[in-house]
Formats: sequence, C-alpha cells, structure tokens
Amino acid sequence: MTRRREPTAGSFHFVCILAFIVGIMIQFSDERESAVDYSNRNLTRVPKDLPPGTKSLNLSQNSIPELQMSDVRFLPELRALRLSHNRIQRLDFGVFKFSPNLEYLDVSHNQLRNIFGCPAVSLKHLDLSFNDFDVLPVYKEFANLTHLSFLGLSATKFRQLDLLPIAHLHLNYILLDLVGYHVKDVEYLNIYNLTITESINHEEFIYSETALKALTIEHVTNQVFIFAKEALYSVFVDMNIRMLTISYTPFIHMLCPHFPSKFTFLNFTQNVFTDSVFQGCSTLGKLETLILQKNSLKNLSMVGLMTKNMFSLETLDVSLNSLDSHAYEGTCTWAESISVLNLSSNVLTDSVFRCLPPKVKVLDLHNNRIMSIPKDITYLQDLQELNVASNSLTDLPGCGAFSILSVLIIEHNLVSHPSVDFFQSCQKIRSLTAGNNPFRCTCELREFVKNIGHISGDVVEGWPDAYRCGSPESAKGTPLQDFHMSPLSCDTVLLIVTVGATLLGLVAIMAFLCLYFDLPWYLRMMCQWTQTRHRARNIPEEELQRKLQFHAFVSYSEHDSTWVKNELLPNLEKDGIQICLHERNFIPGKSIVENIIHFIEKSYKSIFVLSPHFIQSEWCHYELYFAHHNLFHEGSDNLILVLLEPIQQDNIPSRYHKLRALMTQRTYLEWPAEKSKRGLFWANLRASFSTKLILVHEEDMGT
Ligand SMILES: *[C@@H]1O[C@H](CO)[C@@H](O)[C@H](O)[C@H]1NC(C)=O
Ligand SMILES: *[C@@H]1O[C@H](CO)[C@@H](O)[C@H](O)[C@H]1NC(C)=O
Repeated sequence: MTRRREPTAGSFHFVCILAFIVGIMIQFSDERESAVDYSNRNLTRVPKDLPPGTKSLNLSQNSIPELQMSDVRFLPELRALRLSHNRIQRLDFGVFKFSPNLEYLDVSHNQLRNIFGCPAVSLKHLDLSFNDFDVLPVYKEFANLTHLSFLGLSATKFRQLDLLPIAHLHLNYILLDLVGYHVKDVEYLNIYNLTITESINHEEFIYSETALKALTIEHVTNQVFIFAKEALYSVFVDMNIRMLTISYTPFIHMLCPHFPSKFTFLNFTQNVFTDSVFQGCSTLGKLETLILQKNSLKNLSMVGLMTKNMFSLETLDVSLNSLDSHAYEGTCTWAESISVLNLSSNVLTDSVFRCLPPKVKVLDLHNNRIMSIPKDITYLQDLQELNVASNSLTDLPGCGAFSILSVLIIEHNLVSHPSVDFFQSCQKIRSLTAGNNPFRCTCELREFVKNIGHISGDVVEGWPDAYRCGSPESAKGTPLQDFHMSPLSCDTVLLIVTVGATLLGLVAIMAFLCLYFDLPWYLRMMCQWTQTRHRARNIPEEELQRKLQFHAFVSYSEHDSTWVKNELLPNLEKDGIQICLHERNFIPGKSIVENIIHFIEKSYKSIFVLSPHFIQSEWCHYELYFAHHNLFHEGSDNLILVLLEPIQQDNIPSRYHKLRALMTQRTYLEWPAEKSKRGLFWANLRASFSTKLILVHEEDMGT
C-alpha cells in the first residue's frame, strides 16, 4: 500500500491504492546495450540523438511537457519507455505508430488530463496512475489490449461503469489511484486480491470527512515480511467509515479503535483472529453487527467479555470457530443488547446454555456437540428462534425454559422417542423442523405422531418426507405418516380383554352350534365324506380288475325292508348306482350263504343295514364268512355299515366276534332322525361310488 499526503489543509485526501507492484515480467535479456538511461537530467524535451536500435529508454524524473511523434519515430525497436515524474499534460497514443513492439509504457506521476488515440496492441504494462484525470482514462479502444497484464489508473471521480471497457481483460494487476478531491462519488468500495508490497506508516493516513460508507477488502496477500502490523491494523480500524469488511486475510489481530468509532458494521470473516481481539475495547459503542465467522476463537466466555462495552451490538456471528464451553466459573458477561447470536459450527456442549446473552432472541447453535438442553435454564425468556440442528440431542426440549419460543430447528439429531410435553408446553410454536432423526417406531411414538400430524400444515417443516422411522429394523425408512400401530398391540389390558372376549364368544358359538345344530355330527360326516371321496379316487388296481355286476350288495333284515325300498334304493338308484337285493336277485336253488357269497363277490361294495333285527336274524350268515374271507380283511374298504337304529354293544351276542370288532374299528354311517341331516347322509353314502366302474351282465360272465 502506498500513500500520498494531501497538501491543502482542511480538504479531504483519501488514497486508496491497490498497489501491487509489479514484478514486471518483461525480459530485457539481450537489451543491456540497447538500453538508454536519461533519467533525472532536467531535460525539457526528448533528446534527438538517440541510437536507432534503442529498445529501452528511461526518461523519468525530468521536466518534459509533451511527447511528439518525431521524438520516438526513429526508434522502431523500442519496447520499454519510462516517462514517469515529468510534466506531460496530454498524450496521443498515435505517436507510437512506428514502434510496433512497445510493451512497457510508464507515464505515471505526470499532469495528464487527456489521452486519446489507439494504444498499441502489444502493450503489456501501461501505467497512467498519479495524474490529473477527472474520470478514469479508460475508453473503448482499451478493449483490444489483450496482452495487458498491468494497468495503472487514476481519477478524482470514480464511477464503476468506467471500468466496463476493460472488464473482460485478464489483468494481473490494476493500480487505482483515487485522489479524492471529489471522492464523494465513492460511497462503497470493494477491493479484491490486495497485495501489500510496501510497509505502512500510520502517520501517513489522514481521515477526515468522507462520503465513503463501506470498504470491503477481500483476499489479502502480504509480501512484506517485516512490517509494523500495528500500523496496518490501525489504518483499517481507525477508518472514519461506517462499514468495514476485511476477510480472507492472514491477519491475526485487529486493534481497538483509538477514538470512539463510527463503525456500525464490522465483518472479519475468515481471518486468524484469536480470543484477544477487541478485549477491553470501549470505542465500538456504535457497533451493531460484528461478524467474526471462521477465525480462531476458542473461549466462549472471552467472546462474551469482548462485547461488554459494545452497547449497541445486536448481531454477533462467531460461527465456524473452535469455541468450546468448558465449565464456566460464575456467570458470563455479555452486551445486553445482543439479540441475534450465531454460535453454529463450533465445539460447544450442554454448558453453553449457562453462558448466553440474556436478551437473545435468535440463537443459532447448529452443528455443535450438545446432548441435552438443561431444564433449569430460566434466563432465556426472550428466545424466539432456536436452531440446534446437527447436534446429539435425544429429545425435544420443552418450552418451560423458553416460554415464547416460536421457531425450533432440531433436525439431524438423535431424537428417537420424543416426549409429547413439547406440544403442551410450546404453545407459541409456529415452525418446527425435526426431520432426519432416528425415530423409534414403537407404541410410545404414536402420541407424538398423532400430535405432529395434527399440527403439521404450515408448522412442521419437511413433513412428511423428512420424518421416518430409524428403528426397529422392520420399520426402517417408513414415513412416520404411514406408521400405524394398532391400539391392541400397544395396550396389554386391552389385548387380554379382547382375546378373552373372542375366546368366550367362540366357545359360546360352538356350544350353541353343538346344542342346536349337532355340529359334531356334521363335522364327523363331513370328515367321513372327505375320506371316502379320497379313497374312492385311489382304488387299488386289483379292485378295478374284479369282474363286477353291481355297485353294491345290500344286506338287511326283513324288518327294515321298508326303509331299504323307500329310502335307500330311490336315493342310490337315481344316481345310476346298481344295487343287488337278495329278494330281487338271489339265485334260487342255492343256499343263502352261497347266494350271499356270490353276490358280495360280484359287487363293488357291500352295504349292511345294521339294526337290532338285522343282528338277530341275519348276521349269523355272515359271521363265518367274514372270519374266512379276505375280501373284508382289516382296512379294506368294501364294507359300508349303515346304522339304522342305535345298537348297544351289550346287545351284540358274544359269539359275533367279527361284528364286535367291526363295530369298534370301523366308522359307520348313522341314519339321522332329523330330515335336515339326511342330505349329508346320502352324499356320504354316494361318495363311495364316485368312481366310474364298468359293470358286466351275468350272461356275459357265464361265457
Ligand atoms: C480492435 O481491433 C480490431 C481488429 O484488430 C478492429 O477491427 C476493432 O475496431 C478494434 N476495436 C477497437 C474498439 O478499437
Ligand atoms: C449462522 O452462520 C452460518 C454459517 O456460518 C449460517 O449458515 C447461518 O445461516 C447463520 N445463522 C443465522 C441465524 O444467521
């Protein structure tokens, strides 16, 4: 940074220079012999006897008032011309028409008010700074200077649009010398990529009235290794302006202003300031906003102490530091005026809540290490907005401590089963952001989901997408909105009562069915029917190869013949089942037993209509036969027993071993007394004949 002293007392002189001098890169390697130095010779005109091969000409520190074409016309090799510190008032770039290689032209520190003509396109370095231009000497012909890397300019009036013609050029350095007789055109000045190349002496700077309101300096590089840092810091901090931004610099400190300062806004984002900054400083009484984002602050109570005398401070941003809240002794001191405090992205823990400005309204604590918010905090009664996102909180805070809280951001924490108090105690809440927490979707969460679903509308931010179950594994990822637990699975008493009632009901229904509809009978019949059908479908091969004349041989007592003729025959024969009755089919001349044996063998099944009469009168014919004939061996299916009337075991004569055995081993079909049951009875009986059999006639059999 360079400086210039204002000679006229009382008038304002503000110099702000981006001085970045100039590792000029032009190589003058083979040019030593063609370099001509006429500097500091009191010349009033350009000498005429210059060697025509001159490549570099130094005419600085003379009194030359003018440059004409004839002065340089015979120097076609000219590459560098230094004319600084002369008395030139106007310059026509046309004079260099015959020097097509001109790369370096320094006309700084003259009295230039006018320039015109087309500057040579070959120019790399053009210095017009420290002259008497009113407005910046940049016009549209400058747009073609594509090789230019350094441009020095000066003006008393500065308008941003003046730089438009060169806005597209890739200049490495621009030197802007604003000699501010009329600097009241300049209110906001932004400087980027400042390089400090000269050390600074504080006394050289004089600030009095200025129209400048805001100065922004970003990205400072320091090329001076040993310099009085204090002086540099004073230059900035004693500036007579309202807003100052110095960011992205290697500065490690900033001084307290030496006099009560006009600053209302200070932004020191991304420097290397430490806790000692502004400690004990009482000259920043007008400061309203202080931004110390991304520095090296460590101790929160020191930050509080720093603000002690900043009576107007409203907004303090100390985010992105390394602030730690180790246990505080006693209370922290803060400026009472602070209402917005940004403490985000530090390493603060729960104890931060014991060291906060008492009147704070907006508190940003996101991205810290807070695990819980102490319940006994009572002094933050003005808190309206609290951001504790990206911490390690496991529950929502109640609003007991912050009675007028209206905005709560608590996303990205570890809240798994939030307590429902929140909705009761935080009546003023108008925005809740609680998504991206690992909600545990169990019975306990139902109340919360109900509450949150109730108020969701505009209040719950990110609902429903950001609110999902984190556990149990089976529910992971399910939106809370779609998470339902039946009341039954969540309430043991209800569950027991319900299961009990259901069982009772079932028992009652069963009892009713048994009592009034003889359910067991139906079940037994259905079961038999199923088995019979199943068996009928899997008839053994040898069975089918028997030569059969009838589907069934029916054996019954004379006493039951009415039933056989009126019930059995019509019901079976209507389905095409061929029945053999002894009265109808028996062959005369053969004995009863011979007949029986004959027809049993010619029939697919044998139906015995059992009744006390049958046992008494008919069974004797069969007992012997059954004992010897393997057609009715154990497990054979050929026998169908129909129980027409109940028979007591005791009533079966003891010599009928086979009958006794059959009655205990086999299932028999009972003829139901109720008409309604008879359909099933017949179905059951017919099921035995559901196979298609090919019957032969007796005549055919004889052959
Ligand atoms: C820039 O150069 C081109 C050709 O070299 C010329 O046509 C144009 O007029 C020049 N522009 C200015 C603004 O001088
Ligand atoms: C706090 O600072 C962080 C960045 O450092 C920013 O993202 C956030 O918006 C700030 N909070 C408030 C309330 O201004």
